Amino acid sequence: MARKSVDMTSMPKLAWTADIHLNFLSRKGIDQLCTDLLSTRPDAVLLGGDISEADRLVRDLADLEARLQTPTYFVLGNHDFYRGCITETRAAVSALARRAQFLHYLPDTGVVEISPTVALVGVDGWGDARFGNTLHSPVILNDFLHIQEIKTLSASARRLFFQALGDEEAQRIRTSLAAALDRYPRILLLTHVPPFRESAWHQGRISDDDYLPYFSCKAVGDVILELLRGVPEARLTVLCGHTHSPGEARPLPNVHVRTCASDYGMPQVAESSWTSRRVRKCTRTCELVYFGIPVH
Ligand SMILES: [Fe+2]
Ligand SMILES: [Fe+2]
Repeated sequence: MARKSVDMTSMPKLAWTADIHLNFLSRKGIDQLCTDLLSTRPDAVLLGGDISEADRLVRDLADLEARLQTPTYFVLGNHDFYRGCITETRAAVSALARRAQFLHYLPDTGVVEISPTVALVGVDGWGDARFGNTLHSPVILNDFLHIQEIKTLSASARRLFFQALGDEEAQRIRTSLAAALDRYPRILLLTHVPPFRESAWHQGRISDDDYLPYFSCKAVGDVILELLRGVPEARLTVLCGHTHSPGEARPLPNVHVRTCASDYGMPQVAESSWTSRRVRKCTRTCELVYFGIPVH
């Protein structure tokens, strides 16, 4: 069946951000963030993980929903499991999203239609200890100390655990991405951890080999490459965060990856109108970066 071309004139407006780390923001800072997120009247908000921490995540998500009153699609990041455990946190967030009016946890929702030609999918993603210095990295992450399932593991067990987490994420996205590619010519994929070495931006360059094991999710990237190579006429835009440093990558001609910038206490809002590209700095708490996701 012939695929329809993307109709740019009917693109809804999306506001995307990642790594907002609400636990580092004052009430005033959260007010400002919400004002910024709504400043261009988006049709939907995309939150790419590291929203808060496990012991307050459900409360923070419910608070965001009440403030934004806008469909909000999100994935979770590693910080969202701090001071909790992965399985219970995901279960609590899933339960919240099921009863919420505007909150949608993308790993549960599967394929979301944004327009007749554009679909949204998402997966949390984990640094899966496959790129870089996986065996001898001296890096100690807070993940090792503050996530229930991880804090008792030895270094070698931890590496295997991160790889298993990456494999689970890859399986999840394989299902939803394949389903989306069957029906839509243009896909947005929201995830927390950069899925490619070349998208693991950190302070203007690709992360070094000691950080790469934790700043990239190779298993998810491999699925993306495999599926998108098979459908060269489809276009995928990956929106990720985690490294807090902006950058772009094109691992395939039909795959475009954007990594979101953020500072603790100073979240940045990237908003896609699909047709414009402009950069604006403003507000006391946020640098706003507006951009249009290129239509290939
Ligand atoms: Fe973060
Ligand atoms: Fe993160």
